Amino acid sequence: MFFMFDTLEGYIQPGTVEADLVQQIDFSRLPVHLAIIMDGNGRWARQRNLPRTEGHKAGSESVKEVVEASARLGIKYLTLYAFSRENWKRPRDEVNTLWGLLKKYLAEESKVLLENDLKLKVIGERSGIPYLVRRELARVERLTRNNKRMTVVLALNYGGRQEILRAIKMMLRRKSRIDEIDENLFSRYLDTAGLPDPDLLIRTSGEMRLSNFLLWQCAYTELWVTPVLWPDFRRKDLLQAIVDYQKRERRFGGIEVAANSNRS
Ligand code: IPE
Ligand code: IPE
Ligand code: MG
Repeated sequence: MFFMFDTLEGYIQPGTVEADLVQQIDFSRLPVHLAIIMDGNGRWARQRNLPRTEGHKAGSESVKEVVEASARLGIKYLTLYAFSRENWKRPRDEVNTLWGLLKKYLAEESKVLLENDLKLKVIGERSGIPYLVRRELARVERLTRNNKRMTVVLALNYGGRQEILRAIKMMLRRKSRIDEIDENLFSRYLDTAGLPDPDLLIRTSGEMRLSNFLLWQCAYTELWVTPVLWPDFRRKDLLQAIVDYQKRERRFGGIEVAANSNRS
């Protein structure tokens, strides 16, 4: 079923917990870039005596919900950590299921992305992504390249350290003058070139670590961890994260709250 994402009207029912949370949000100070470490699929499945792969299937539904809710809210960049460089250590069956689910997601959702003005972008080491998935990713990226409403960034075969090393190598190949190298120049060699740093990073399932995600980019990102497992993550959890984010004081090393990210 295809649908057009509109605003929050009709999406959030009056009198619900969600409506109450929306009331608390200051829409002029939304996180511009929201990043999510989607974790806990395996534990969700284990709690139900199901194979881990069932947890990943259930997790796809949370992805759809979060993409829709973020677009409706007005988030500009949504980055989802879907497969790390280290996830290849998992049993082959599980790895195959994860890539298979991604392929299915792209096949089913490319039209939704297109019709809702959402752009797809991939970060991570592309050459290591299974060929058929890579081809599908390239197709959807091409299809949605002129879209403007929100960019959905998928971190696939992604590792922060490996990304930094790749950037250094590329930079050294192209630039010889050491004194030209600064934070701005370096950022342009990262996979995230052109994207603002994440304002808010959500991790589900209670783990309090970065697991090699956006190491350079998260220097001043606000972290928000919830015990909720990824397959159970719903729009109300996203709204709660934004409400909590807006209560934080972002000082960036200074002593005053930075403009544009403080309490109103
Ligand atoms: C996150 O859930 C999905 C991926 C890492 C791809 P996990 O599969 O890591 O679930 P847990 O952490 O084992 O519960
Ligand atoms: C991080 O989760 C990777 C993704 C969510 C894609 P992991 O489950 O792989 O992280 P660790 O192993 O618990 O640190
Ligand atoms: Mg995990």
